[in-house]
Amino acid sequence: MNGAQEALLSVRGVSVRFGGIRALDGVSFDVEKGRIVGLIGPNGAGKTTLFNCLSRLYEFQEGEIRYEGRSLVEVPRHGIASLGIGRTFQNLALFRTMSVVENVMVGGHCRTSTGYIANMLRLPSVKAEEAQLRAKAEELVRFLRLEHVAELPVGGLPFGYQKRVELGRGLISDPKLLLLDEPAAGLNHEELDDLGRTIMDIRDRLGVTVLLVEHHMSLVMSISDKVVALDFGQKIAEGTPAEVQNHPDVIRAYLGTG
Ligand SMILES: Nc1ncnc2c1ncn2[C@@H]1O[C@H](COP(=O)(O)OP(=O)(O)OP(=O)(O)O)[C@@H](O)[C@H]1O
Ligand SMILES: [Mg+2]
Repeated sequence: MNGAQEALLSVRGVSVRFGGIRALDGVSFDVEKGRIVGLIGPNGAGKTTLFNCLSRLYEFQEGEIRYEGRSLVEVPRHGIASLGIGRTFQNLALFRTMSVVENVMVGGHCRTSTGYIANMLRLPSVKAEEAQLRAKAEELVRFLRLEHVAELPVGGLPFGYQKRVELGRGLISDPKLLLLDEPAAGLNHEELDDLGRTIMDIRDRLGVTVLLVEHHMSLVMSISDKVVALDFGQKIAEGTPAEVQNHPDVIRAYLGTG
């Protein structure tokens, strides 16, 4: 098999039910290493539900999800970040009064190794780890082109900047796979272009594989290597951006929901 085509993530026949609703219905697709894979679909299609399965926040009743060949069912929720799966959430959840750097650092605290007693006593090991985390956060802030606002509280920054802070928070745990849930929601044209460029940088310069949920078709279609389309919990199309964009079922799904 060609190394570049190797699946980092493999979703097979995954179904999730909430009472009578089938939020996901036998969904299968692969996310190849080093790619940006777009996940699209109308509201309620099951995109966030799939992310929540990948993060182990939701249980799936059928199917299998493999990451680096290992079944995620065996991995507890708190083990997901250390496996190398990072994510952002659909609703921005930054600490408004904390600085850009501090907000990025928040994403790394789940990975520090010192225990709770050591933290309480502020042992040297804790301070060293904190300093290391800060240095890494500062490096990411430069990568995200936010160094000029690094020490400012995020609450007063333009929305486009805040979205990039979220990316930083998802990246600080050194993910191999980054799950982005509607990172472009609420952005203007210029900010959209900027975000697209940043996501491509994440793939090309950091070598991180990206699974991107997004409603902005122009963004998904311009940066994705492959696109998967869901509707009512089922996969209706998969292929290159051009193939999916022109797929009759995809056109119908979007027209049908206005
Ligand atoms: N925790 C839950 N309890 C009950 N139903 C849920 C839950 N989470 C999701 N659903 C339902 O599952 C379906 C899929 O929802 P999901 O949030 O995955 O859609 P989505 O594709 O992310 O939509 P959007 O584009 O609006 O974010 C919807 O019918 C939703 O109401
Ligand atoms: Mg959603």
